[in-house]
Amino acid sequence: VTTHLPWVDAIARLKKSRGAVIMAHSYQSPEIFHGVADVTGDSLALAQAAATCDADTIVLCGVHFMAETAKILAPHRTVLIPDQEAGCSLAASITADDVRALRARHPGAPVVTYVNTSAAVKAESDACCTSANAVQVVRAMGADKVIFLPDRFLGAHVASQVDDVELVLWDGRCEVHETFTVQQARHARERFDAALVAHPECPPDVQAEADFVGSTTAMGAWLEKARPQRVALITECSMADNLRVRFPDVEFIKPCNLCPHMKRITLPNIHACLKELRHEVTVPPDVAARARRALQRMLDIGR
Ligand code: 13P
Ligand code: SF4
Repeated sequence: VTTHLPWVDAIARLKKSRGAVIMAHSYQSPEIFHGVADVTGDSLALAQAAATCDADTIVLCGVHFMAETAKILAPHRTVLIPDQEAGCSLAASITADDVRALRARHPGAPVVTYVNTSAAVKAESDACCTSANAVQVVRAMGADKVIFLPDRFLGAHVASQVDDVELVLWDGRCEVHETFTVQQARHARERFDAALVAHPECPPDVQAEADFVGSTTAMGAWLEKARPQRVALITECSMADNLRVRFPDVEFIKPCNLCPHMKRITLPNIHACLKELRHEVTVPPDVAARARRALQRMLDIGR
């Protein structure tokens, strides 16, 4: 902790002088999440915060699609990301051409796109969603058939909740969540008597084993109500690290996996980002305008 303090202090000073707000996703390391962030939460919370932000500059501590989303929703703000290489296997799994080809194959079916996608893919979509509101957004389309992109496992989770809508899925996967196994989940329950909470990007058999499936913010809300003695959060490791402070009486058990993209963001590169005002995230205005419509539809539906 002591090695972090000089960075935390220096970032706080710079942040003030730049008129910047730091937004951090739940998967950011605790020294970022608790040490320097002004706004924290799941992808939906960060999008909502960007849409209503009045600071000059937003530093997005998360992955690139989150910074693009912030820029699209806050076009007059400067949006910075501390490391431009912070990608996402889901966002990399699909292109705008793929979406156009799917539309041609399923004429008339609306396209609902997980926010874990590029701005160009969002621009081809009717509505965006996050793991917090995917079911609500699919229902709001009012269609018999919906093209749901790109996460196959989140898609399977939505399909299990919405019987009367046929979902056309894509084969995108989160490289962090797809590797969890049902054996790991059962081990946590049987060996440690732990409650199981899984992210909907986990494989369906892992989700079926869980006591609760939900977004990173929803996991915190579930713990608030259920207050288990022990829990395994089957998701990125920082989730448990960040929630430990809020739930000192709960014991957090593995498994968890690190996201190499989320972990590219560090205190030193946040400091450099504020000092040198880099790396600015931009989205071509025509793409941004079309993507904003899909994102706005998601925000209107809410959580
Ligand atoms: P949320 O559940 O917070 O939306 O995030 C999922 C994720 O994997 C973001 O990278
Ligand atoms: Fe992408 Fe998975 Fe990492 Fe989230 S955890 S940024 S979905 S690779």
